[in-house]
Amino acid sequence: MKPLEIAKGIFDVGVTDWNIRDFHGYSTDMGTSYNAFLILDDKITLIDTVKKEFADQLLHNISQIVDPARIDMVISNHTEMDHSGALPRVMHKIGEDKPLYCSKMGQKNLSLHFSQKWNYQAVENGETLPIGKRTLQFLETRMLHWPDSMFTYLAEDKILFSSDAFGQHYAGPEKFDDQLDAQIMHQAKKYYANILLLYAAKTLKLLEKVTELKLEFKMICPDHGILWRKDPARIIKAYAEWSAQKPGRKAVVIYDTMWQSTEKMADAVVQGIKEQGVEVKPLHLRRNHRSDIMTEVLDAKAVVVGSPTLNNCLFPTISDFLTYMKGLKPRHKIAAAFGSYGWSGEAVKMISTELEAMDFALVDPGVRIQYVPDQAGIDACLALGRKIGAAVSAAETPA
Ligand code: FEO
Repeated sequence: MKPLEIAKGIFDVGVTDWNIRDFHGYSTDMGTSYNAFLILDDKITLIDTVKKEFADQLLHNISQIVDPARIDMVISNHTEMDHSGALPRVMHKIGEDKPLYCSKMGQKNLSLHFSQKWNYQAVENGETLPIGKRTLQFLETRMLHWPDSMFTYLAEDKILFSSDAFGQHYAGPEKFDDQLDAQIMHQAKKYYANILLLYAAKTLKLLEKVTELKLEFKMICPDHGILWRKDPARIIKAYAEWSAQKPGRKAVVIYDTMWQSTEKMADAVVQGIKEQGVEVKPLHLRRNHRSDIMTEVLDAKAVVVGSPTLNNCLFPTISDFLTYMKGLKPRHKIAAAFGSYGWSGEAVKMISTELEAMDFALVDPGVRIQYVPDQAGIDACLALGRKIGAAVSAAETPA
């Protein structure tokens, strides 16, 4: 099938990865795509490439539009290998001496990845590059989400090639936001919560900068998923909201269990929270993927974590999740811990220590119950839930 012409003379020559289900630890239940864009102008320009294993398909897609050897230059917006893995094949095919435009950090990182003496052309933030009837402008977006990341803006067409930002892991026949609705916002939210959340403050600054520059967007083209053409402002507004991390009237109860004691405690905590009129989601860590749980954490005010004590430690799935969540740096949360134990019972204290290290405000020292909760134990968990629910209701929204 001939690549899609997304605007006059601009083609999406990327590939769809229908069957990927684990993207470096992120569950990609709906697959993904690696978008790459070919601009036909006086200088034929390729923006980004794809994963190494899809290099042939990328070159085949390009060859349906133009002989790849006729490409005059490549833009690398981001070094991560889902967008650069095919670069060695592409550069070999088009000519190793063709200019490869990237940020300064892009040059450094591409060199560290590929050890190739390509014709790097490192660009400054704001630098422009005429390619014929059109002009490209490069916008550094350092640490969104790698040191090398940048956007490329096509001024005449008002198209932003945004690399990972505004993307979603979604593989489908649809290519634009107007072809599917609610589910794509969920995928975009999941992408933000798992890839960009730790850079929320930088994202807000970038959005301010974009507003200052008065850049207009007719289309935003991320490197994953669908392209935003109907309403690009919608995804920008969503990023502003997610980056502000204004929590909702919502709690998540994240737990694992060995002999269902901690699960009984979780049920009672959930019940107590519900009684306070707060939305609550119980999330068993072996029934829900960590990346889906992070999506729920994004707009929750309370994060409640339950673990049995296993061999004087946390249950391993809880350790895994706490490490993952800590790295993503969610803010403005309140928290508490609970768990059953046999004889030593360190888990609740360990969880509480970790939650405090994440700057979560503990609303309670936590509930520990030996072996199996009796009615008094269930009542203690209900009380914990009510306390959390009341704290969520009372929480002031951060300025
Ligand atoms: Fe889609 Fe940061 O790579």
